[in-house]
Amino acid sequence: MADEIAIESMLKERRKFKPDAAFSRQAHVNGVTAYNRMRKEADKNYQRYWARLAKENVTWFTPWKKVLSWKPPFAKWFVGAKTNVSYNCLDRHLEGENAWRRNKAAIIWEGEPGDSRTLTYGDLHREVCKFTNVLKGLGIKKGDRVVLYMPMVPELAIAMLACARMGAVHSIIFGGFSAESIRDRINDAEAHTVVTADGGWRRGQVVPLKNMIDEALEGAKTVRNVVVVQRTGQSILMKDGRDQWWHELMKDASPDCPAAKLDAEHPLFTLYTSGTTGKPKGILHTTGGYLVHTTVTSKYIFDLKETDTYWCTADIGWITGHSYVVYGILSNGATTVMYEGAPNHPEQDRFWEIIDKYNVTIFYTAPTAIRTFQKWGDEHVKKHSLKSLRLLGTVGEPINPAAWMWYRKMIGKNRCPIVDTWWQTETGGILISPIPGAVTTTPGTATLPFPGIFPEVVNEAGKPAKTDEGGYLVVKRPWPGMLRGIYGDPKRYKEQYWSKFKDTYFTGDGARRDKNGYFWIMGRVDDVMNVAGHRLSTMEIESALVSHPSVAESAVVGRPDEIKGTGVVAFVSLEKGIEASEKLQAQLKQHVAKEIGPIAKPDDIRFTDALPKTRSGKIMRRLLRDIAAGRETVGDTTTLEDYSVLAKLRDSDEG
Ligand code: WT7
Repeated sequence: MADEIAIESMLKERRKFKPDAAFSRQAHVNGVTAYNRMRKEADKNYQRYWARLAKENVTWFTPWKKVLSWKPPFAKWFVGAKTNVSYNCLDRHLEGENAWRRNKAAIIWEGEPGDSRTLTYGDLHREVCKFTNVLKGLGIKKGDRVVLYMPMVPELAIAMLACARMGAVHSIIFGGFSAESIRDRINDAEAHTVVTADGGWRRGQVVPLKNMIDEALEGAKTVRNVVVVQRTGQSILMKDGRDQWWHELMKDASPDCPAAKLDAEHPLFTLYTSGTTGKPKGILHTTGGYLVHTTVTSKYIFDLKETDTYWCTADIGWITGHSYVVYGILSNGATTVMYEGAPNHPEQDRFWEIIDKYNVTIFYTAPTAIRTFQKWGDEHVKKHSLKSLRLLGTVGEPINPAAWMWYRKMIGKNRCPIVDTWWQTETGGILISPIPGAVTTTPGTATLPFPGIFPEVVNEAGKPAKTDEGGYLVVKRPWPGMLRGIYGDPKRYKEQYWSKFKDTYFTGDGARRDKNGYFWIMGRVDDVMNVAGHRLSTMEIESALVSHPSVAESAVVGRPDEIKGTGVVAFVSLEKGIEASEKLQAQLKQHVAKEIGPIAKPDDIRFTDALPKTRSGKIMRRLLRDIAAGRETVGDTTTLEDYSVLAKLRDSDEG
């Protein structure tokens, strides 16, 4: 891919926002001195530093013998220690000096239709214990994989924590994925239990989750049990001997279920994400290191306190929801808000209404959402006070300075620090982000690594890039929350992340570092696109397209999109005798939605009689990207385009 990197130097952004003195005073890291102390400690001996944080922030049943065992590319953290993630998120808030948290809200949940539920730590503990016993009753054993395909309802968090409690490995599939994608993931995980719901609410409509599961299970032979949460109430098929209602199973379940003492390296979950090939990878995270990483970053980066009401808008189906709706937040004993539905239902001010309704203090969302709100107009925001907010965060893609400034002014009222957090499904938790109250921010940069994390920007040869010179973003040393592998595929794990640079983790992102050492992320340098903060693989969409009988060949590229960051454009050549038409365009979009999920639907499909290729037969992606972005004139855009002339012109400089 090296020849294809087009890292452009970004506009030099000079606005600086120093931490507000009042914020700093009350923060966990209360200023530059405290911050430097933390960094110095981490730089001096990062293993000892992580060990201290692990001891202070996580409860262990058995201490570790060794902080880190590192046999590149395989890391083990807190070797020999025993703990339990569910215990850390629940039980320890009901005991000893924290026992008062029993009646504190753990989850405040808002359904899209306007219904709501609050589960205290006591409630959540009871429900999780009961559901763990349900899982055991279904024959689930430690190490078994459980697939969760659910709406954003408290039962999803309950199911996760129940798996974690007994050492079953959850694999959550985002509710926007289609039957085909679900089937692949279930088969890859060889799961025999699926937890789902009849449906979920989205923009006033029912998302028919159970129907999708029924379709997916037609080709998934391992599944014996399906547990169904009743959420939307429409009639669904309940297959005898396979499907059972959550509420019926829970009725008689015992609330007594001690947390299993699990090895620090016991698998916690797998989560599928797109890579550079057609097949999604099951990213594997384990218990102890992931718990330490998410707990500690939640505390310091969100400055999370006992008194906070924290809301991350991500769906739990993505890593952000795993780490920063559920695990990292509950482990700190804070209150997490969960919202089921769309930001524009019933009106475009739903998020701001929720913030005022629950007095949310910390708000974490994606740049694509911020740009959407900006477009919807300030009047929706101005209807609400938002005065409870004290910190804002962003994640998922580079944030453009205009959106950052709007977020600061319109949502944060120029009062709240913004943490732009860079990380990935693979990293488990945040790696690069300002520490609020200590680090001066500038719109568009995720600023500095979290102390104890060692990223770098390197050139093709693996040598550190010069100041402001674009290069590859890598991480030089292992970290507690790092992925432990790709489920069932150690070879791909090595190739994907550890082969480009020796014993160094390659992120797939391009970046530059400025004279202050701040990291400016410039987006993916591989065949992965970041569409509205969701990761999509060009190859995955291409193979979905060629699985349609009318398609001979396809090439998928991204183009800049004002709201989504990247839009998806598919160039398609058709089988002989097939006519290009608008109808076919619509059919192909639908086909991709069916094969992968609506999130992968191309924004634009362009027909061509042949894909432009170099003499050696490589598809000229750079040319296609230019065409998609409108940087290259293609003359008359009739339905059937011919890029062969352009291809010939370009052939010499690409390939
Ligand atoms: C990719 C990871 C981590 C949760 C959400 C996405 C991009 C993520 C930022 C940021 C610039 C960012 C990167 C990364 N990304 N956060 N703050 N600034 N880019 O998780 O689906 O695993 O995607 O998202 O390109 O590699 P993911």
